Amino acid sequence: MRYIVVKNIGELVTLKGSKGLRTGKDMNEAQILKNAYFVVENGKFTEVGTGLGYQKYQASALIIDAQGKLITPGLIDSHTHLVHAGSREHELAMKLAGYTYLDILKQGGGIFDTVAQTTQASFNDLLNQSQKTLNRMLLHGTTVVEAKSGYGLELSTELKQLEVAKTLDQRHPIKIINTFMGAHAIPPQYKDNRPKFIALLKEMIKEIKKQNLAKFCDVFCEDGVFSLEETREFLTFAKSLGYGIKMHADEIVSMGGASLAQELGCISADHLMATKESDMDQLAKGRVVANLLPLTSFYLNSNYANARLMIKKGCGVAIATDYNPGSSPCENLQLAMQVACLKMKMTPKEVITATTINAAVSLGLDETKGTIEGGKDADFVIFDCPNLDYLIYRFGINHVEDVYIGGKQVVSQGRIIGV
Ligand code: NIG
Ligand code: FE
Repeated sequence: MRYIVVKNIGELVTLKGSKGLRTGKDMNEAQILKNAYFVVENGKFTEVGTGLGYQKYQASALIIDAQGKLITPGLIDSHTHLVHAGSREHELAMKLAGYTYLDILKQGGGIFDTVAQTTQASFNDLLNQSQKTLNRMLLHGTTVVEAKSGYGLELSTELKQLEVAKTLDQRHPIKIINTFMGAHAIPPQYKDNRPKFIALLKEMIKEIKKQNLAKFCDVFCEDGVFSLEETREFLTFAKSLGYGIKMHADEIVSMGGASLAQELGCISADHLMATKESDMDQLAKGRVVANLLPLTSFYLNSNYANARLMIKKGCGVAIATDYNPGSSPCENLQLAMQVACLKMKMTPKEVITATTINAAVSLGLDETKGTIEGGKDADFVIFDCPNLDYLIYRFGINHVEDVYIGGKQVVSQGRIIGV
């Protein structure tokens, strides 16, 4: 059959409109159609409409009846630490006893624990663990994932992580975008010679560039981790090599990271739980995606980023899981959306904008992903929900019924097919 037609869609969240970041009030314009249909040809959306306009395709189309359900673009998880070995459930008791995230890191646990496990793991062990994670993400409606390295802190393990992600990008239906995050922690042997580690990071990204293994570079700019100056030096170099740049900014301590992200031309600044008002203005001015990670606040029991104020100031917000073994061991992007709505007071329309088109912008993919409109990749999710509000309101469960990527069905009735 030449076409796929999906008809009888109760609510079709198209988000159609211009390419690029949706900011401020525009985040609440999700362009939802009722009683809608769309047409797919060669893996792309070709037509979107309402009523019976699809009937002209009937003779040459596979017709899918959505039975009045909700369809959105494939969800995009724009901030994850996908590839790592092992887990850190032993930190739970420490957390409950009152140790903070930075306390655990300072004691040589936290990220360093996962660095040790990831360094020891074989390529295949890492691949298998990450593939399981991707399967869970796909089952929850995620069709694109950003994957950061940063659990090696030396070249060979960083390369191993990036190669695992690249292999999975080729094997798994989810599209994976690699980010180098060797600037995730200062290894203990460089504690007294930090410039040497920055120099090493620069050497690493030259090699990673040669092997074309990452599109972005990211830095954990935080009190006691990488300073503003170190972040500036490294990201300026990364940019000069042609990488897109990102920052973990103002996660715990307000250091002006968001303003630095604007100054350097970062595509996104992520976390932003402690960002000051004046720094939010800079994000809005620079159209830097404010990539917020509510599951991290939930899991660390810390404050939430002030999404309402950011949107009021004209920022473009994205929402992601921050999936990682320490501060957000959860693949469920629907839950991140629900927490963003319930705890950060974002509307369901803002939240779906944040996990589709704005997330696509933060990965440089908005030409092809993030909306349902003619010319874009036919990535979409059929939810067993009558409308978008219901997806948020019934929280903590998986609403996904079917997932299509590039017009190909990859989840049917909540089960992965053909992988
Ligand atoms: O985004 N903040 C730094 N990195 C991760 C946590 C990584 C870890 O604890 O393993 C984050 O929260
Ligand atoms: Fe992170």
